[in-house]
Amino acid sequence: MSYQLLKGKKGIIFGALDEKSLAWRTALRCHQEGAEIVLTNAPVALRMGEINKLAEEIKAPVIGADVTKSEDLKKLFEDSMTHFGSRIDFVLHSVGMSVNMRKGRAYTELDYGFNQKTLDISAISFHRVLQTAYELDAINYWGSVVALTYIAAQRVFPDYNEMADAKALLESIARSFGYYYGIKKKVRINTVSQSPTKTTAGSGVKGFDGFQEYAEKMSPLGNASADDCAGYVAVLFSDLTKMVTMQNLFHDGGFSFTGVTEAVVAELEKNLEKA
Ligand SMILES: NC(=O)c1ccc[n+]([C@@H]2O[C@H](COP(=O)([O-])OP(=O)(O)OC[C@H]3O[C@@H](n4cnc5c(N)ncnc54)[C@H](O)[C@@H]3O)[C@@H](O)[C@H]2O)c1
Repeated sequence: MSYQLLKGKKGIIFGALDEKSLAWRTALRCHQEGAEIVLTNAPVALRMGEINKLAEEIKAPVIGADVTKSEDLKKLFEDSMTHFGSRIDFVLHSVGMSVNMRKGRAYTELDYGFNQKTLDISAISFHRVLQTAYELDAINYWGSVVALTYIAAQRVFPDYNEMADAKALLESIARSFGYYYGIKKKVRINTVSQSPTKTTAGSGVKGFDGFQEYAEKMSPLGNASADDCAGYVAVLFSDLTKMVTMQNLFHDGGFSFTGVTEAVVAELEKNLEKA
């Protein structure tokens, strides 16, 4: 069901790799809610070609940009404004990659070269996106920017590795830039902390299936799906959330505030009986 929450709004969505991607689901939802969209991803991801299916479905142009390159981002914002014939109303940053995780290195054995790349792609890129938009004055008054994050920024999840630090930095950038952009143009900046979701990036985390099952059992509402996430982000892009900024918003079925659930205790007691 569409509420036309984003009728007349124009946005850039980073990070739709395939149909499981949180960005892909969000692009579909924003389109359904009446928005016009520009899709972007790293040139290497565009070569996979999947994104063209989404582009066709929602009638969106695709503009390549590596989030670690300021010149790519400048061109992306300029070309998007030319395409829309106006400034932009919303931006989704849905980008993350851990080089150490990919190379199988544990948190206690990080390669710092890889680590810098991880932080650059997964966190500093958010500052780069915001600074580019700020300098070009690319976002309209009362615009909305969202980046996706995970609760490993606040609590320890061992297999999340260096991405925990990247997410802590990402959330801090949302707060710090949110201050300046709020004052300059009433633009709001928030992070959404999503439940574990089976996507390409998500499945890269060691032991992901067990991890997801544990979160499901530890959340009174169960895990939030990618489509649930898309709906929440669409609301954050709408005028109904005008005064929410500089927040990290948990979208996790209650996981973040649950100490333990009866389902988890019952499971542990079963194991004790077996022992
Ligand atoms: N899946 C989960 O469990 C989960 C939970 C919470 C938060 N998140 C976050 O959601 C976001 C989206 O991840 P996803 O789960 O949809 O996985 P995904 O793999 O579908 O998306 C990650 C995207 O990042 C893009 N990317 C990587 N390097 C880039 C670069 N240099 N320039 C531009 N784009 C680049 C990839 O091409 C890909 O499209 C990430 O920030 C992730 O950390 C995911």
